[in-house]
Amino acid sequence: MPERTLSDAYPADLLSWQALQAHYDGEMRSKSLADLFTRNQQRFTGYSLDAGDLFLDYSKNFINAKTRKLLTKLATEAGLPAAINSMFAGEPINTTENRSVLHVALRAKMSDQVALHVQGVSDIWLALEQMTKFVNAVQKGKIVGHTGRKLTDIVNIGIGGSDLGPVMASRALRHYWQPGMNFHSVSNVDGTQLIDLTEHLNPEETLFVICSKTFTTQETMVNANAASDWISNCLGGDAINKHFAAASTNQKAMDVFGINPNYRFGFWDWVGGRYSLWSAVGLALALVIGADQFWALLAGARRMDQHFRTAPLDANMPVLLAMISIWNNNFFGAQSQAILPYDNRLDRFPAYLQQLQMESNGKSVRTDGKPVTVDTGAVIWGEPGSNAQHSFYQLLHQGTRYAPVDFILPLSSSGGTQAQQDLAIANCLAQSEALMDGYKEDGGKSPHKTHPGNRPSNTIMMNRLTPSSLGQLVALYEHKVFVEGVIWGINSFDQFGVELGKRLAGDLLPAVTGQTGYKGGNGSTRGLLARVNKKQ
Ligand code: F6P
Repeated sequence: MPERTLSDAYPADLLSWQALQAHYDGEMRSKSLADLFTRNQQRFTGYSLDAGDLFLDYSKNFINAKTRKLLTKLATEAGLPAAINSMFAGEPINTTENRSVLHVALRAKMSDQVALHVQGVSDIWLALEQMTKFVNAVQKGKIVGHTGRKLTDIVNIGIGGSDLGPVMASRALRHYWQPGMNFHSVSNVDGTQLIDLTEHLNPEETLFVICSKTFTTQETMVNANAASDWISNCLGGDAINKHFAAASTNQKAMDVFGINPNYRFGFWDWVGGRYSLWSAVGLALALVIGADQFWALLAGARRMDQHFRTAPLDANMPVLLAMISIWNNNFFGAQSQAILPYDNRLDRFPAYLQQLQMESNGKSVRTDGKPVTVDTGAVIWGEPGSNAQHSFYQLLHQGTRYAPVDFILPLSSSGGTQAQQDLAIANCLAQSEALMDGYKEDGGKSPHKTHPGNRPSNTIMMNRLTPSSLGQLVALYEHKVFVEGVIWGINSFDQFGVELGKRLAGDLLPAVTGQTGYKGGNGSTRGLLARVNKKQ
C-alpha cells in the first residue's frame, strides 16, 4: 500500500468509477426511493445487515443491485483488501509521516497477532494493565489526594483527539459512571471552562489528567498550567504530584511539568490523535466508568475490527457505509452529511465524527503528492434528535441543499424511561420516512406545505448504548473513514492543514499584546489588530 502508484486521473479513470458514472447518468440520477421499494418487496432485507450489535439499514439510498456491485468493484479496483491488510500488518500507511496506523492493535488481543513486530505494540497490554491498576486504586480510594481525600472529580485537559474521544464517550456512557465519580473536561484556550469548573470543584478531590500526545499543544499547556496554579494556590506546590496524571508520548515534557512518574501513561507515535481513545488517552474515561467498562469498550471495537477484516466487501458494514458516502458525495454531489443520534447521551458524537472524518479526509492532495481529481471528505455536522428537529430539519426536508443523513438509534433508553425512548424511536423513524416519502398537501396544491421527499438516509440501530456497542460504533466510523481515504487515494492519517493557523497564532500574539507591531502583510489583519490594540 505505501508504494501505491496512482494514475493522474485516479480514481476517475478506474473502470468501476466510469461504470458508476454511466450508471448514475443513465439510471440512478432520477430514481425515486419509493420506486426502488415498489420494485423490490424484499428491499429492506436485501439492503440491511447486522455486524456484532449494530444493525445498518441502508435501503433508503439510491442503490440497487447493480450499484452495490459496482461500488464493491470500485473498492476492489482501488485495492481496498490489500489496504486493509496493510493497516493490520502495521505497514507505514501514514506515508507522509512514515508511520504505521495501529489503533486496531490497541484493542486487539495479543493472540490476534496484530503487527506485533512494530515497536511498542507488544507493550500495549502492559500499558493497559498499568492503567487498570491505577484506575482501580483511584476508585477504591487507595490512591488519594494530597490531604488524603478520595479523588472523585476527574478533569481531562486536552484538545482535539485528546479531548473529543474521552468527552464523547464519557457522555455517551454516563449511565456507567461509578458511584461518586464525575467526569469534567477543559479544552478551549480562552480559560473560561476551567474558571467555571473550579468554582464548583473541591481541589482536594480533583484529579487532572493532562492528555496530549505531544505535550506541547498550546491550549492544553495553558490550561494545564492554570490548573497547576489553582492546585498550588489551594493546596500548596507539593500537591501537584498527587493531583495530576498524564497521557502522553513525551516523557521529557511530563518530567518538566512535574507529573508523578507513577501517574504517567504512555502511548506510541502510531496512535493518531483522533484515533487515540483506546490508548492512555482514555484514562479519564476509564477513571470514571471503571476499568472493566473500558476494556468492554475496547472489546466492542475489536469486534468491529474483526468484522471489517473478514467480512466480504458487499456485506461489510464500514465498507458499505463508506461506499454509500462516496456514491452520495462524488456522484450525487452531496457536500455534507448529517449525523443525527436519537439518544441525547450521544450529543458529542457528531463533534467527535467531525474531527475523525474532516481532519482525516479533508485533503486535496493524494498520497503521491498530486492534486486529487475528485471531491474528498464531506462536511460533517449534526446534533441529537429530536432537538435538531426543532432547529435545522426544516432545511433537510424542504431546503434546496441535499444532505444525506445517518440516524443513530439505540432502542433502549440509557437513562430515561422506556416510554421516553419509544418517543425518540418514533421520531427517528418518522424523520427517515418523511425524508424518503415526502408529502403533498392537497395533492400538491399547497407548495409551501409540500415535502419533496426522495432524500436518502442510513439508520444504524443498536439495542442499547453500552461500552461494547459504543466501541463498535466508533470503530465502524473509523474504518469508514479509512475506506473513503483509500478510494480517494489520500492519506487519512496526517493533519498538516491545522499547522499553519497554529504557527500564525504564535507569530501574532506579540502584536495582539502590543509588545511588537504587526509584521505580516494582511490588510484585514492589520485593521483588526488596530481595533484590538485600541480596545486593550
Ligand atoms: O489540532 C491538531 C491536533 O494535532 C489533533 O490532531 C490532535 O488530536 C490535537 O491537535 C491534540 O494534539 P495533542 O494530543 O498532541 O495535544
